[in-house]
Amino acid sequence: MIYLDNAATSLLKPPEVAKAMTTAMRTMASPGRGGHEPAAKAADTAFRCREELSEFFRAPGPEHVAFTMNATHAVNIAIATLVKPGDRVVISGYEHNAVTRPLHMLGAETDAAVSPLFEPEAAIEAFRKRLPGAKCCVCTHVSNVFGFILPVEEIAAMCREYGVSFVLDASQSAGVLNVDMEALGAEFVAMPGHKGLLGPQGTGVLLCRDRARPIMAGGTGSESRNQAMPETLPDALEAGTHNIPGIAGLLAGLRYVKRRGLESIDAHERKLKGLMCRKLAGISGLEVFSSPTAQSGVLSVRSGKLGSEEIAAALGARGVAVRAGLHCAPLAHQSAGTLEGGTVRFSFSPFNNAAEIDRAAAELVRILKMSS
Ligand code: ALA
Repeated sequence: MIYLDNAATSLLKPPEVAKAMTTAMRTMASPGRGGHEPAAKAADTAFRCREELSEFFRAPGPEHVAFTMNATHAVNIAIATLVKPGDRVVISGYEHNAVTRPLHMLGAETDAAVSPLFEPEAAIEAFRKRLPGAKCCVCTHVSNVFGFILPVEEIAAMCREYGVSFVLDASQSAGVLNVDMEALGAEFVAMPGHKGLLGPQGTGVLLCRDRARPIMAGGTGSESRNQAMPETLPDALEAGTHNIPGIAGLLAGLRYVKRRGLESIDAHERKLKGLMCRKLAGISGLEVFSSPTAQSGVLSVRSGKLGSEEIAAALGARGVAVRAGLHCAPLAHQSAGTLEGGTVRFSFSPFNNAAEIDRAAAELVRILKMSS
């Protein structure tokens, strides 16, 4: 199988990820839940993971790194902390339901800074108009549908200028592009462990500045007499037993990313995306959504003849795994004009190669030819 659905979950992981998870299951218990060696080993792994994540993403310190089950969980905490019903929250036109649904559920006024696809300057202008007086801004770094890299440095700078709290959704950029919490001045940065960081599903991270409101209460292994949740980070956000095998796997994935280097990973994925674009150029009736500069290794296409789901199913039957439809991001499709029918998305990883791209493109061409 050729796996090109890495924007959903990176399936191919460095072998040390599974190894770290197995070792954790065999030797580690729960941090803060006993003075014995398995508890101490678990605490050590969790601390090292926080420490390395904090350094890598320039968070204020290891205790400002909270483990969550995924990026959605992390975004929910950030929004619950900063936003009250009726508050106006500015978002980009490329947000995922992980951002728009929590805002909707909370009763916030969602103010989308809609801008055309792959036009960073237009995005900056759209934010500039809306940010004054807003309570908060939540912005994705990279669109999960189109790979559009939002100008988050400029957006964050405007947030600082207007005194608006900034939350970054780094779901598609963590492990691929530089994410610098300090430079952004972000209040929170949310990310999954199971995409670019190459960890397992069920892991996520919330980088916090100085306060965070729990959305779940329970045991933390600390301040047990107190019936209120501890206020100190990260315990405030981590009720219940940690996913220690997941955290151990995440640490191994992060270490791979650090060894290989962000620039190398980003360049590799963009090269594969460029190759796919060249293979698909000029095919009648096929629209390829690409940009040479404002796009990471995620590529959407759509056909005037065949539906997106139909193409994805046919590709799947030929051993090419992609995702089609709306990708849980109807707003992104609305902004790009692809809400009707959605797109077929190819998303690349550090472990894909040019031969796979050749074959995937050839299969798509065959499918389209058969339908005409
Ligand atoms: N957000 C993930 C995707 O784009 C699940 O597929």
